[in-house]
Amino acid sequence: MRKISVGWLEIGEKEKKAVNDVLDSGRISEGPVTAEFEKKWAEFIGTRYCLTTSSGTAALITVLTAFKHLYDLEKRPKVITSPLTYISDANAIVLSGLEPVFVDIDPETFCITPEAIENHLSQVADPEKYSILLPVDLIGYSVKIDEIKRIAQKYDLLVLEDAAEAHGTMYKGKCSGADAHAGIYSFYIAHNIQAGEMGAITTNDEKIFTLCKQLKANGRFCECTVCTRAKGVCPGLQSLPENEDFDPRFLHEVIGYNFKTMEFQPAIALAQMENIPYIIKRRQENIAALNKGLEEFADILQLPLHDENVSYLAYPLVIKNTSAISRKKLRKELEEHGVETRPLFGCIPTQQPAYEYMRKAYQGRIPHAEYAGANGFYIGCHQYLTDEDIAYTISIFKKILGETR
Ligand SMILES: Cc1ncc(COP(=O)(O)O)c(C=O)c1O
Repeated sequence: MRKISVGWLEIGEKEKKAVNDVLDSGRISEGPVTAEFEKKWAEFIGTRYCLTTSSGTAALITVLTAFKHLYDLEKRPKVITSPLTYISDANAIVLSGLEPVFVDIDPETFCITPEAIENHLSQVADPEKYSILLPVDLIGYSVKIDEIKRIAQKYDLLVLEDAAEAHGTMYKGKCSGADAHAGIYSFYIAHNIQAGEMGAITTNDEKIFTLCKQLKANGRFCECTVCTRAKGVCPGLQSLPENEDFDPRFLHEVIGYNFKTMEFQPAIALAQMENIPYIIKRRQENIAALNKGLEEFADILQLPLHDENVSYLAYPLVIKNTSAISRKKLRKELEEHGVETRPLFGCIPTQQPAYEYMRKAYQGRIPHAEYAGANGFYIGCHQYLTDEDIAYTISIFKKILGETR
């Protein structure tokens, strides 16, 4: 039986060489390969700065913590975000001592809408308690970042765009994540560029970049990628009073985390980055082919919007409320035929046990997110799938859904 995986990573000769080069270099903790990746990712996204972290979740926590330090958010703990996303957005907000507030999504792009954000802010009694908008580019679909920025300006809010799933999505000429105060990315396995575990932060703001760089390294004072002390050019040493007896590597200005990566992950990511145009194009083609093949089931399934500016993470489907088949049954039968599936994350405040304490407050108030969370799922559209794999996937849908008619 064929296996149509949700994600895949072929460790080719290029990836093996990149990892072996790291081993041969004798330096496996963060160093020059990480710096090279950061430079290339900033260039790719189109921002002045990029910083790697150990994961996308770590990137979220780092930026939120930096915002708290830089903008004194003590009395403004509320962060508007998406209810339909991977749990780490809500977790990062809570773990940063902030408060997630969820607004509804667009049922076709699964992203929170400027209208929902603005409606919410215009109706609440305490708009002065809000400080951050954290929209998510789910599955690769872009949020309307220009309109979200307009609202942010009106209400004096910061914008952190979660582009974890949108590597290279374009919106009005800019890459996802580039047009916010900061953007974050995940390179978890199955993302378009994958490194096992790794995240990144992009920004054009030097203050945000510098503070994030410290926060991800336990608040460390010094900034060099590879220590320059032995060469006698350590900027940390030079900026301190002459007689001070200290080591900049062990001086910490803020309370931070250890969210550093290792050299292996950026090495693997760099090897794939050469193929980004192909990866995006091949996923686009697979989305188009699946849509064409499943067109006849548009009365049962909401097929994904095909947009040539989107860098797709996966192929998302939502079972329509008029359909005779349940998500559970369809997923089970697809899996039995080798087509892997994943639920569309779930609606965090009403369907995730960890957020049970919010359930009553949100039930019935974010209907699109609740519906997609309960009835949505995705399958793979990745670049390793062949035309035969796509044809096989379509044939399995036809077999299962044909029988339900
Ligand atoms: C939308 C979104 N945000 C954040 C994350 C967190 O990234 P990580 O798994 O690297 O911590 C993910 C992970 O897949 C994600 O899909």
